[in-house]
Amino acid sequence: MSVEDAKREAAARAVALVEDGMRLGLGTGSTAKHFVALLGERVRGGLSVIGVPTSERTRAQAEAEGIPLSDLDATPQLDLTVDGADEIDEDLRLIKGGGGALLREKIVAAASARMIVIADDSKRVAVLGRFPLPIEVVPFGLGATKLAVRDAAAGAGCRGDLRLRRQADSSLFVTDGGHYIVDAAFGAIPDPEDLSRALLAVPGVVDHGLFIGLATAAIVASPHGISTYG
Ligand code: 5RP
Repeated sequence: MSVEDAKREAAARAVALVEDGMRLGLGTGSTAKHFVALLGERVRGGLSVIGVPTSERTRAQAEAEGIPLSDLDATPQLDLTVDGADEIDEDLRLIKGGGGALLREKIVAAASARMIVIADDSKRVAVLGRFPLPIEVVPFGLGATKLAVRDAAAGAGCRGDLRLRRQADSSLFVTDGGHYIVDAAFGAIPDPEDLSRALLAVPGVVDHGLFIGLATAAIVASPHGISTYG
């Protein structure tokens, strides 16, 4: 089974859990893209759901699939969010934001009664932090914010390179909310809760890609089959 097949298989298992009438958070990324495509098939087959997208990219795909959409103003409480992840640990703590949608993804997940993470098994880790942690920051005061982030992270036992995210043409990556992303290559995050608190205390940090206490289950696909956690 290829990685792409594994992603699609995990997405298919999650789509099978969707029930008529559900209000759904629609994640972002290559795995969530499979979910939205498979959900579109079910909607065209008669399933009635409302989706709240976590990015403009996902909104465009969901619209093209014919999935009825809403937002958190009109639909502030969701039944289920299905989204991918960059890392998943044993306690269902996540690193997200590789696709740059972490802020909306976190807001949508927090508004959901349940969050199911779908992934191929390369995303399972014993300790979070091999994947650089995305930190969303406001453009104003960037230099000062980066220094403060470095100090805050060091206080939580994390040291590593902080790199402003750029696109392939080397222009700065700008999130749907108009912010920048600093990718922090810590290597290992000994205490994710402590790091989360420290980063959120820095003025200029909007949010970060540590998702703690949000995921309620994970569906992980590998060549050996599907494992469900949570
Ligand atoms: C986007 C995300 C994605 O869910 C995460 O990057 C995983 O992406 P993929 O399914 O493409 O591996 O957090 O901001």
